Amino acid sequence: MTPKQLEESTAYLEAKGFENPEIGIVLGTGLGKLANQIEEAIEAHYNHIPFFPLATVEFHSGKLIYGTLEGKKVVVMQGRFHLYEGYDFVDITYPIRVMHKLGIKKLFISNAAGAINLDFKKGDLMLIEDHINLQGGSPLAFKGVSQYGERFTDMAEPYDLDMRKELSAIAEKENIVLRKGVYASVVGPQLETKAEYRMLKIIGADAVGMSTVPEVIVANHLKLPIVAVSVLTDECDPENLEPVNVQEIIEVAGKAEPKMVKLFKELIKKL
Ligand code: HPA
Repeated sequence: MTPKQLEESTAYLEAKGFENPEIGIVLGTGLGKLANQIEEAIEAHYNHIPFFPLATVEFHSGKLIYGTLEGKKVVVMQGRFHLYEGYDFVDITYPIRVMHKLGIKKLFISNAAGAINLDFKKGDLMLIEDHINLQGGSPLAFKGVSQYGERFTDMAEPYDLDMRKELSAIAEKENIVLRKGVYASVVGPQLETKAEYRMLKIIGADAVGMSTVPEVIVANHLKLPIVAVSVLTDECDPENLEPVNVQEIIEVAGKAEPKMVKLFKELIKKL
């Protein structure tokens, strides 16, 4: 990544009409349908955007979508890049930097995650209040990082308090169960062992997944306020562990998706 590459990626999107988006949204696994509700949508496939990471075969559907949602200009990532696909930390967070350069003022993130806190149930939503980075690296550990922001980025409150409060109030009003907790990120793609689930519980995680944390670190580097919601797709009980079925994870995410869409749309209205 260089400043010039970021400028070229941004210029390509601006030339396509991606003008002054206010909000960026990252849609996680099984959570792509919000994109269908965008009005006057303009799409850019990741493969066509200069200097975007080259998409893998399984990932052909990844695209950026610009348009209007609840009266506001948004840019949506339908599909994200993961470390487990073989990308590095700088690659997977490049789109966040591009959305920032396009002008977004807030970032909404979603993901599918496993429930470590067994008071939480499959299909519940969890507002991420804090995280634990277990991915063994940082998207800020590269030469020249200071050109883009403070190297020693503060992480005392990485998830915006005002938007968290607002989202809690919306959930209450809409009768949507919104759990709150700590998200731990792992590289994957293998799922966790029983011993790993026990460890995750001991160290204070409520949910575990394979994304989000690098994006949140970069957003904090850019001083971009974030709100992030996990859809809990499976219950990770080390004492009664059943093999995870990825198809089922996607199905559960799809069933819970309307709740997440409702929360995000109501939050946009309030901003
Ligand atoms: N681990 C366990 N269960 C999950 C995950 C994960 O990373 N993501 C979704 N369900």
